[in-house]
Amino acid sequence: MNKNNLALILACLALGLSMFAFFRNSAPVSGSVTVADSTEMESEELEVAVLMQRFQWNVNKLYFAGLANNKPLANFYLHELEESMEELAEHPIEENGQRLDELVRAWGLAPLESLEDSLEKTDPKGFKLAYEAFIKNCNGCHISSGHPYIRIVLPTQPVMDNQDFNP
Ligand code: HEC
Repeated sequence: MNKNNLALILACLALGLSMFAFFRNSAPVSGSVTVADSTEMESEELEVAVLMQRFQWNVNKLYFAGLANNKPLANFYLHELEESMEELAEHPIEENGQRLDELVRAWGLAPLESLEDSLEKTDPKGFKLAYEAFIKNCNGCHISSGHPYIRIVLPTQPVMDNQDFNP
């Protein structure tokens, strides 16, 4: 191999490396801004949807614990639900022009407190009424945040069939 060929190969290598470095560094700044943005939005949406799955899970089991008058178990699910709601309340997420953290305080955390009271003070019949009122708030928030098609109703059976809800 003569000197000129070697120099050419080295020059090509250097060019290749610098192009690699250029595209790697410039990728998030130039053409892919929208990609980076939409990924960020997706991860926020994913987080809310995952939280909602937890809401749905806990609110389902809460019902059967309350109906069975198993107060310690019902309180356990109330607190799980409260934790998930607080997680949302701590994140300033906006969707369809609405701040979800503010909505969850009004439609989630406040009604949850009344439900907690009813669980303390009433029998399963009273709990059922309070629970029905409570899930109307889930739907109130779905309407307010632009998701009127997500409707929560009274469950007819527990999400899992391998748990004893009796005290
Ligand atoms: C902040 C107001 C708010 C409250 C309160 C709220 N949700 Fe949601 N919920 C949302 C939003 C916003 C979405 C859409 C999430 C997304 O965009 O990914 C959603 C989506 C859902 C979904 C669809 C996700 C899925 O896995 O199917 C379910 C189920 C759900 N919520 C259940 C509940 C339940 C149960 C309650 C009450 C205990 C509740 N939500 C209370 C705002 C709320």
